[in-house]
Amino acid sequence: MCDELEHCELGTQEYWNKRYKEEVKNYQNHGDVGEIWFGEDIVDRLIKWAKTAQIEKSCKVLDIGCGNGMLLIELYNEGFQNVIGVDYSENAITLARSIATKFECNIEFTVCDIIDQNTHLSDFDIILDKGTYDAISLSFNAKENRNKYIENVQKILKETGVLIITSCNWTKDELIEQFQSHFDLKESIPTPEFKFGGKVGNVVTSIVFKRKINIENYLILFYL
Ligand SMILES: C[S@@+](CC[C@H](N)C(=O)[O-])C[C@H]1O[C@@H](n2cnc3c(N)ncnc32)[C@H](O)[C@@H]1O
Repeated sequence: MCDELEHCELGTQEYWNKRYKEEVKNYQNHGDVGEIWFGEDIVDRLIKWAKTAQIEKSCKVLDIGCGNGMLLIELYNEGFQNVIGVDYSENAITLARSIATKFECNIEFTVCDIIDQNTHLSDFDIILDKGTYDAISLSFNAKENRNKYIENVQKILKETGVLIITSCNWTKDELIEQFQSHFDLKESIPTPEFKFGGKVGNVVTSIVFKRKINIENYLILFYL
């Protein structure tokens, strides 16, 4: 069983709105795009994975909790242009839209709370999450919110789709345990390693989940 993380301000919408309000100002005044969570290296590794896995460039990609939108902008410049970014912070969406316009990337960025059941999103081939499940894990009703997240993400992913989650709060084994009701591990994306006291560990985990096969759907088809 995984221990719950202690809730803190990083798990609140107010925190992110305030933070991105400042980042919008910084971008307007100095052209600074703001924080690249977990560093440029992780973005490069995600892009390298997409190339090695020979992902079709026309596939439909969603970035959940896109923040400044830089991950999608990088992907767009690599030729993945059927991409959408959502974030529950209006200021993050304002920031992502202005950066995308400056970089001449035609990307849709929309305000959406992924915990909200009535999401208008559907049928994605790839869903990306870099640090958003981490933020949700720090919210007040974290366990309940994490379960809603897992259910919602499974619903909006195609049966053949994958969820790529990058986290600094949970290990690979913890993520597998938390997602096992709806997802199976497909593969791990290598992340930088560190050595401490003779043990090798990772600061950030990046893993690819595939949707669990829904046996009931197959049985219904079989009996039709
Ligand atoms: C650690 S930041 C990562 C931002 C971005 N993914 C990146 O890598 O730069 C977490 C992001 O998740 C967003 N977020 C947190 N909870 C969310 C939710 N329930 N629905 C949508 N976005 C959420 C925050 O507004 C914030 O932009």
